[in-house]
Amino acid sequence: MRHAIIYAHPNPKSFSAVICERIRDLSKELGNVVTVRDLYKANFNPVLSGQDFQSLQNGVTPKDILEEQKIIKSADLITVIFPLWWTGYPAILKGYIDRVLLNGFAYQHSTKTGITPLLTDKKVQIITTMGASVEEYESSGLIDAMARTMFDNVWSFCGCDDAGMIVLGEVPGMGDKDRISVLGEIEETLIRTMANSKPHHKKTTPTQKNKKKPAPAKTKKTKTLAKRTRG
Ligand SMILES: Cc1cc2nc3c(=O)[nH]c(=O)nc-3n(C[C@H](O)[C@H](O)[C@H](O)COP(=O)(O)O)c2cc1C
Repeated sequence: MRHAIIYAHPNPKSFSAVICERIRDLSKELGNVVTVRDLYKANFNPVLSGQDFQSLQNGVTPKDILEEQKIIKSADLITVIFPLWWTGYPAILKGYIDRVLLNGFAYQHSTKTGITPLLTDKKVQIITTMGASVEEYESSGLIDAMARTMFDNVWSFCGCDDAGMIVLGEVPGMGDKDRISVLGEIEETLIRTMANSKPHHKKTTPTQKNKKKPAPAKTKKTKTLAKRTRG
């Protein structure tokens, strides 16, 4: 299976960085071909510019966008990892979505037939860390709003299956014990997702898939983790 990880955090000491590493390592252990797109390290240009529009109107997709589209196209599973900033994505990730998930690549818009999703052979999983508590965001409807704007109106719109959205609350004050426990849950989620996924390019090597021990029970479940899983 091909697994693309789209990662957007500028701080290598962040919890998001730890999550990214763990997912990358586990996915490799499970026999997948893993590509990590570290948008800050890659210095990804997030501005969908007038020049981009001009080029696209002339039928030419800018080279840097084509490179990202190649990664998305070949992936069976995409994991998007980022910190929640102002109840949204870091700008670099918003710009990635603007520039990469283009009409004609991610979906086809036609005035006659409407929208045809084009990324129909993939699963997408979203993992975000935040400062607020999950209860606070749940009770104010923000978790649901995030799932709708970040998942339904982006990845589902493009035809991707929902492999779950994990929202980690109160991350800045989270102790080591909870961090370890949360990482264990994330790993379990990934193992389950892989087990339920059919690669469209290549068969997963069934190496260590079932060897992973279940993670210990998490202590502050509702406070630290909110999951929405459909797929
Ligand atoms: C620019 C900025 C905006 C932020 N906005 C929010 C926000 O809207 N809601 C929230 O709960 N936390 C917010 N935070 C806190 C971060 O989400 C939190 O520090 C981060 O997710 C911790 O995880 P990390 O170690 O992966 O960075 C913000 C932090 C920054 C730097």
